[in-house]
Amino acid sequence: MAKQPRPLIAGNWKMNGLARSGTREARALAKRLAGVKRLGCEVLICPPAPLLPVLRAALKGSRIAIGGQDCHAAATGAHTGDVSAEMLADAGCRYVIVGHSERRADHGETDRRVRAKAEAAHRAGLTAIVCVGETAAQRRRRETLKVVGAQLRGSLPAGATAGNTVVAYEPVWAIGSGLTPTAGDVAEVHASIRSRLVRRFKAEGRGMRILYGGSVKAGNAGELLAVANVDGALVGGASLTAKDFWPIVRVRA
Ligand code: 13P
Repeated sequence: MAKQPRPLIAGNWKMNGLARSGTREARALAKRLAGVKRLGCEVLICPPAPLLPVLRAALKGSRIAIGGQDCHAAATGAHTGDVSAEMLADAGCRYVIVGHSERRADHGETDRRVRAKAEAAHRAGLTAIVCVGETAAQRRRRETLKVVGAQLRGSLPAGATAGNTVVAYEPVWAIGSGLTPTAGDVAEVHASIRSRLVRRFKAEGRGMRILYGGSVKAGNAGELLAVANVDGALVGGASLTAKDFWPIVRVRA
């Protein structure tokens, strides 16, 4: 029997948070986690890059890991405004999100570029959280499984393992909208992702965590996290405060 992967509850702060409020919320969450006897999941916060050193210091000795929201494919060079995976690792990150739909949309990131970023993450010793997901129009046309399959094929590097790669299924139409797919729809997509991962990466694919993301809140986290092949959540808006994030973390804590 393959070992059940340890769930990951990850917060993506996107372009939100300043030093003082970010520290306060992260510390409040760390305090709640400190009270858990045997923690059943990993907890991650991915703040904006300028807050990484601040949160690293604030969360020292806590059970919360920090991660980046994006990285450049190169390690160094003339790429104004970009941050490399090596820099994130140097700043104390263990994870980096790549291929988020907001970056695919706002910065024209292709599967090929996302794959190069995931390879950069692996090169730097980081675990890449590779995001995939269909738009509302694609879902209406019943193309979800095809679209997600193509994104996985194009975005996951050959060297992906259960240790260095996490897949996040985030339907674009569910992000920030308050809408979520039904548990049945999530089960269907996650099962399809799992079978593709196993076909391509064999035992490693069985152990890779598949997160659900898109309007995860305290009120729906229990149901979504109970779905087969949902090994955690990638949470946006509801990860910004300890008050909102804690009830989601607690489902798996
Ligand atoms: P929301 O939880 O705000 O819908 O965002 C989800 C997301 O995009 C996380 O990466």
